[in-house]
Amino acid sequence: MFSKLSVCVSLATPVLSRPVHMVVSPASTAASKLKNMEKSLTAEEMFAREEKYGAHNYHPLPVALERGEGVYVWDVEGRRYFDFLSAYSAVNQGHCHPKIISALNAQATRLALTSRAFYNNVLGEYEEYITSLFKYNKVLPMNTGVEAGETACKLARKWAYTVKGVPKYKAKIIFANGNFWGRTLAAISSSSDPSSYDGFGPFMPGFEFIPYNDIPALERALQDQNVAAYMVEPIQGEAGVLVPDEGYLTKVRELCTRHNVLFIADEVQTGLARTGRRLAVDHENIRPDIVLLGKALSGGVYPVSAVLCDDEVMLTIKPGEHGSTYGGNPLACRVAIAALEVLEKEKLAENSEKMGKILRSELMKLPRDIVVAVRGKGLLNAIVIKETKGYDAWKVCLRLRDNGLLAKPTHGDIIRLAPPLVIKEDQVRESAEIIQKTILSF
Ligand SMILES: Cc1ncc(COP(=O)(O)O)c(C=O)c1O
Repeated sequence: MFSKLSVCVSLATPVLSRPVHMVVSPASTAASKLKNMEKSLTAEEMFAREEKYGAHNYHPLPVALERGEGVYVWDVEGRRYFDFLSAYSAVNQGHCHPKIISALNAQATRLALTSRAFYNNVLGEYEEYITSLFKYNKVLPMNTGVEAGETACKLARKWAYTVKGVPKYKAKIIFANGNFWGRTLAAISSSSDPSSYDGFGPFMPGFEFIPYNDIPALERALQDQNVAAYMVEPIQGEAGVLVPDEGYLTKVRELCTRHNVLFIADEVQTGLARTGRRLAVDHENIRPDIVLLGKALSGGVYPVSAVLCDDEVMLTIKPGEHGSTYGGNPLACRVAIAALEVLEKEKLAENSEKMGKILRSELMKLPRDIVVAVRGKGLLNAIVIKETKGYDAWKVCLRLRDNGLLAKPTHGDIIRLAPPLVIKEDQVRESAEIIQKTILSF
């Protein structure tokens, strides 16, 4: 176990810019001129415009999208693609799901934001619905996934001081190496990935790290009486869809209970039917103390996140001690209810489980000297590409794009394959054929 504060690292900042050959002429200040330009811009011009006016904190695959429906997205030239990223699992219900869009439209024209200074007529309905669905006493609504993680860390510290009896400001939170929960200073302070944290210190104190999927390491870490919580993803998504050993989460549960430490499950990516269960922890029938949800909680139309836990933990935070202007607004609540109803009514967890099995069995047919691993659960999957001089995950993704399927490398040689959960069997087979054809074309 080590703490980032005690380690000195010096690594080069990654190059995030990409070469662009197009130069966009300076934008007119007149809105009408901009509107006319919009119509005639080519994809290349759109890449160049983002390059010129936007921060260079992303490295997008060169494709400019303008429409989405179900498992498909269309680019500005009208080409159709299978979306195998699903906005990092935010679009589990498929693009522009009519029920979610209709809930969004209806609420947007009625009442969108009140702040929490007042009550509104949707928040309570949403709170009742989501807590009964996931069987926790309470929910705390936030917006993005990283805010859910921040909220969980605050709850864990508050609980440690007010319930567990940890001396003031000595509380520790343990994280697994390889975790990813966003880009705030707290999130990067718990990251083991230099491209997330390098150059952004000083880091948050009281965070310590152990290897993922390592029960003896967790057991050693929990000997410290000041540990408030262990926060972990049931499957590490951004790290490359790392699936822990069967039984790992059950043992995490047992150890956390034995040592009076909160088990925080970050289900922002794995939750909401993505892995073939409502929550990924449901594969082992365990109940974490705190569950974090985000992304697909809105079906990809609006930032909505949530922290679920019981009263003993949630009520340690008192009025005025935490919040967010947008958290729990009527629009977000309506959208979240609709997004959850779609997952339940359309049985997307079951579909994810079934389609995932078909997808993996097709991917396993690829030659092992090129695709060295196929892994995942439900429709959260990844293939690991054996990199050679002329062959890497980025090049494969470019060619997949040319063949009508969008995916993105994660960590160099890994390609995550996570389509919307509404995908049907013939679409899975067609996508698998595109992937096979692409891999074999090099
Ligand atoms: C497991 C996990 N937690 C938290 C986050 C952060 O979510 P957001 O980008 O909405 O802040 C992510 C984002 O990818 C994630 O994968």
